[in-house]
Amino acid sequence: MRQFLLWCSQNRWLAAHVPRWPFARRAVKRFMPGEDFGTALSAASSLKQQNVGALFTLLGENVSDGAGAAAVVKDYEDILAAASGIGAEVSVKPTHLGLDVDPKAAYANLLRLARAVADAKSFLWVDMEGSDYVDRTLDLYVRVREEAPAVGIAIQAYLKRTPADITALLKSKTAIRLVKGAYAEPASIAYTGKRQVDANYLALTAYMLPEVKRGNLRLVLGSHDVDLIRNAWRYGEAIGLERERFEIAMLYGIRTEEQLRLAGEGFSVRCLISYGDAWYAWYLRRLAERPANLLFAARQLLP
Ligand code: FDA
Repeated sequence: MRQFLLWCSQNRWLAAHVPRWPFARRAVKRFMPGEDFGTALSAASSLKQQNVGALFTLLGENVSDGAGAAAVVKDYEDILAAASGIGAEVSVKPTHLGLDVDPKAAYANLLRLARAVADAKSFLWVDMEGSDYVDRTLDLYVRVREEAPAVGIAIQAYLKRTPADITALLKSKTAIRLVKGAYAEPASIAYTGKRQVDANYLALTAYMLPEVKRGNLRLVLGSHDVDLIRNAWRYGEAIGLERERFEIAMLYGIRTEEQLRLAGEGFSVRCLISYGDAWYAWYLRRLAERPANLLFAARQLLP
């Protein structure tokens, strides 16, 4: 089912038609407060009152021309100004900034965005996409971080190359959001069983936490797997890490009670809030993470 849903996420016909179906539009509301940024901003404001920070992302990927990529940068610049009071951060996909079209322009776009984020005293996260993009994304990130340090990168625990990538990143000060990985990858390069992915995730976290303690790394655990997060915290506690430096990020609409509980216990929690109308592929990846979500989507077919 996971493979089928991930195949659907890449299908052009479905991508062109599904977003027009009313039941799909109703179903996606579970994972995003609304398509317009104003709705995302008010969701962020109410979460802030409960000590949960926000991380905004404009939905979309694989833009096919330079103008599309430039519009994405402009959108983020606008929302940074609008969201200045709430301490939100932003997260962006390299292919949304034109990595498929022109790598040099994608670098210029990312750098421009990183500088705008620094001016707004915010923080920019670079999402990690499918494995074909990993080398190019790491290269973009390392070069941009040399110019603008308030930038971090998502790293996927399911990839077998990840320990080497993390070791290379840790040679200088860096910021990593560790996620399990959301794409369809072959067993030759990725762990495909949940147990192996979870074990790798925990081992990588234990490896990185001492660097957080030393101040060389900002680490965010991007996961809803609360058991795994609590196991990881045992390592943090053992090395005397302060709770507020143990950072967790989850997606809007998923395990909201746990987000509030962890924030109430003193951990740093952020909620990734998506907005925009290009939600199709992203939504299918959310379904693939938990095919039980299909039942919820199917229920939206009812009047
Ligand atoms: P896991 O899938 O094991 O789920 C643990 C539990 O969480 C489930 O039992 C369920 O209760 C709940 N849950 C998880 N997903 C759910 C869903 N979709 N609907 C309902 N409940 C769900 N990936 C990537 O490849 N590149 C990236 O840049 C990012 N960025 C990113 C940022 C943030 C803040 C998060 C939280 C996640 C990402 N991801 C990502 C996605 C990530 O790789 C992964 O696919 C999902 O987080 C699901 O894995 P979990 O760690 O939540 O564990």
